[in-house]
Amino acid sequence: MAPLPRRLRRAALVPAGALLRIASRPVGGGTGMTRAALGPLVGRPDAGGSVVMVTGASSGIGEAAARRLAAEGATVLLVARGAEALDRIASEIGASGAGEARPHPCDLTDLEAIDDLCERALAEHGAVDVLVNNAGRSIRRSVDRSGDRFHDFQRTMQLNYFGAIRLILGLLPAMRERGQGQVVNVSSAGVQIRTPRFSGYIASKAALEAFSDAVQAETREDGIRFTTISMPLVRTPMISPTRQYERIPALTPEEAGRLVVDAVSGRPRRVAPPFAHVLAAVDRVSPEAMDVVRSRVYRMFGE
Ligand SMILES: NC(=O)c1ccc[n+]([C@@H]2O[C@H](COP(=O)([O-])OP(=O)(O)OC[C@H]3O[C@@H](n4cnc5c(N)ncnc54)[C@H](OP(=O)(O)O)[C@@H]3O)[C@@H](O)[C@H]2O)c1
Repeated sequence: MAPLPRRLRRAALVPAGALLRIASRPVGGGTGMTRAALGPLVGRPDAGGSVVMVTGASSGIGEAAARRLAAEGATVLLVARGAEALDRIASEIGASGAGEARPHPCDLTDLEAIDDLCERALAEHGAVDVLVNNAGRSIRRSVDRSGDRFHDFQRTMQLNYFGAIRLILGLLPAMRERGQGQVVNVSSAGVQIRTPRFSGYIASKAALEAFSDAVQAETREDGIRFTTISMPLVRTPMISPTRQYERIPALTPEEAGRLVVDAVSGRPRRVAPPFAHVLAAVDRVSPEAMDVVRSRVYRMFGE
């Protein structure tokens, strides 16, 4: 078949892009998509609002979510390694008069530093109502280039899985004691799709999802809610090294931050874009059919 003329291909990309954009908008758990449908943050009458710890708050989705959560009345604990960025964001939030934020610099690959962070947060703020596990590292590399890079798999697990569960283990007992609390995990739609070249990254996110689902059952009667957000592509520094993503529709950090805020206020179990639900369902029925799709995607994009 003769290839489509260039202009025709461009014209076809417009509706395809629009469709992909709509299909990328996560829905889930009965939150609805409009702010009007959402209740206020779970308030603590004695402390004027929820205490929400946001990891990875120095950039991208975490920064946007932290700013919005503070504007909604939460006291936001900003966690990341970049102390300067956290100080700047905290003072900008303070200066806006719209909320409160406290910087808590921490390297979340350092398990002892995480224990100190949990102790400090509980001592200084009395409680942490919501933990948003958002800090993350992504690695895009096919397995044929990973033979001598075992550390890629260790690094993604260390931050995306071990760091997150160490935080959960540190904060969960106090939440259970008080009979309320929420853990929001910023995962990836790639887990449902099993995106090629992201094996290490999506495996670390899948591990956190599985851990959370099992622990949800154990803590359900204690007022604890685990929420998994299967985030689609978001235009943040994380994806900027991948040139192929420049032409693919992506959420803005503010749109993604809003999904996090909606997850905190609506407390759904899962939030995911429709395309990920559809592809995961196809995969369940016929993994071989999805192998064909994934292998096409793999061959379509370079390293
Ligand atoms: N962007 C996307 O398309 C996309 C899609 C699906 C899921 N996600 C997920 O969304 C989350 C946020 O990513 P993003 O896109 O907003 O990326 P980003 O702008 O690169 O932000 C990553 C954040 O993680 C923090 N971080 C990295 N290493 C850390 C460490 N060792 N200790 C503490 N904090 C650390 C970074 O702060 P410091 O460098 O200051 O430590 C930064 O605040 C990640 O979990 C990512 O996997 C993103």
